[in-house]
Amino acid sequence: MENIKRFISEREELNKQTLDFAGKNIKRFFNLDMNCYKAGVLDKKIKEMLGLSSSMVLRCDDCISYHLLECHKAGVSNEEIEEVFSIALIVGGSIVIPHLRRAVKFWEEINIMSQKDKFKTKTELFSYIKISLEKVLSEEMGLTDRLQMICDILSQEVKYYNWVGFYLTKDDKQTLVLGPYVGDETEHKEIPFGKGICGQTAVTNQTFLVPDVSMQSNYLSCSLNTKAEIVVPVFNKNNEFVAELDIDSHEVNPFNQEDKDFLEYICESLKSYF
Ligand code: SME
Repeated sequence: MENIKRFISEREELNKQTLDFAGKNIKRFFNLDMNCYKAGVLDKKIKEMLGLSSSMVLRCDDCISYHLLECHKAGVSNEEIEEVFSIALIVGGSIVIPHLRRAVKFWEEINIMSQKDKFKTKTELFSYIKISLEKVLSEEMGLTDRLQMICDILSQEVKYYNWVGFYLTKDDKQTLVLGPYVGDETEHKEIPFGKGICGQTAVTNQTFLVPDVSMQSNYLSCSLNTKAEIVVPVFNKNNEFVAELDIDSHEVNPFNQEDKDFLEYICESLKSYF
């Protein structure tokens, strides 16, 4: 998933930079490339498969990833991709194998990503995630690994969960310390109780849902991309506040009652591990 997202955004950014820099000749070449792949006598699907096979023989991983995405959009099936791969392998020989391995992985990631799009509602998506979470919640492992796996699953599965992490209480019960997380590095590795959304949750011990962080005066910014935040407290077996789950989103107002219930269910399930 992350692989695909990274590939798409890096490609867009570099294309923009290249076209800003480019003169007439480079721009003409880019245009030619685009026009060549438009449907003609050969349809889009066939053209993308040709592009994929040639890219594999020429061993350009970026080109392979790009054509795999385009093949998927054009509706190329698994069986068809497998036959394209076999032609590329026959033409290019065993030196294509390392690229084939990465292509198989990338294609499977695309399939997983598109499967996820089949969840049309949050209820469906959250029920699906709960299945993988139940495994993480029941298996034998240390607390750090368990919290890290929860962060990994949430950030992978929910598009608008862009930073997912846990803050744990320090022994002084006055400070939160950053625990496992996924997302951009944050300067807020320690947060005093009362400061920011996280610190306020540590005081109230209530879930704090912020639809738009720009409306909050007591807020600690981690990234300019963050538009909304939700923080859910975690209690131990004696109902003492011990940690919190913090999620930032790049969208304004992405969280609703379903997110709140879902995240509170996760935090409640963590009780026995603290
Ligand atoms: N925004 C938080 C600080 C933590 S970062 O979001 C990772 C806050 O206001 O407490």
